[in-house]
Amino acid sequence: MTDRYAVIGNPISHSKSPLIHRMFAEQTGQDISYEAIEAPLDGFERKIRELISLGYKGFNVTVPFKQKAFQLIPDGMSTCISEDAQNAMAANTLKLLGNQINIDNTDGIGLARDLENNLAIKLKGKQLLLIGAGGASRGVLSPLRRAGAKITITNRTADKAHFLAKRFHMASCSYDELWGKQFDIVVNATSAGLTDSRIPLPDNIFATNALAYDMMYGRETPFMAFARARGARVADGLGMLVEQAAEAFFIWRGVRPDTRAVLAALRP
Ligand code: ATR
Repeated sequence: MTDRYAVIGNPISHSKSPLIHRMFAEQTGQDISYEAIEAPLDGFERKIRELISLGYKGFNVTVPFKQKAFQLIPDGMSTCISEDAQNAMAANTLKLLGNQINIDNTDGIGLARDLENNLAIKLKGKQLLLIGAGGASRGVLSPLRRAGAKITITNRTADKAHFLAKRFHMASCSYDELWGKQFDIVVNATSAGLTDSRIPLPDNIFATNALAYDMMYGRETPFMAFARARGARVADGLGMLVEQAAEAFFIWRGVRPDTRAVLAALRP
């Protein structure tokens, strides 16, 4: 019998996850189906319960339900929450194992793998600036640190950066305090790109051979254009999307797909 999986979000029609997981399944010979399913904004848990009762084996969870997925306790089931999901206080991968639901977050591993394996950047000892202190930022903090990056968090609302940094024992600063500092990797984890807003970064924020990474994908954000104009190497979040999906696929199926082939197929 074909095992069923789905990505749950709202909206969800734009999601590339079904295409990615179908490519993984074909490549590895796994007999699965994978759909994109929209849950009502006020009905995430109800939708998950319905799909579990239909026999689904696992889910990816995307905007705006990642926090709800972390808090999920379906009736009569036990939960097991990974350390990365605990640290992020958000989840993007759920796995059904009989009466147990495993709650995980593969976003940070996805970003770390994209940086190290696809973009050939060794994180160990690198000065990394993480811009943003919302869910996207929390999701990647602990895997980036585990990989050895020296992280500074900054945010438009500086107090939120200080709060996160204190919790994770990292450095933090306000936008104003970035003047005079340089970083090897600058990661944009804000949603500023959605509204084409510019983040007021100093001109010389990028160290020699620095990488500017925007977690968004699909178009050039003002952050990417700013970095490109200052000579930095620039990457969008498509590789992270594929790598977080691969880690979810591994959690579900115990098989690692070849992400490079899938990434190459997705790049325009
Ligand atoms: P997500 O879960 O996607 O991270 P979020 O929790 O709403 O969403 O966080 C959005 C992040 O993007 C925050 O760090 C936010 O900064 P504030 O905490 O100051 O609100 C940041 N952000 C959103 N719009 C921005 C903009 N125009 N310029 C800079 N930062 C922005």
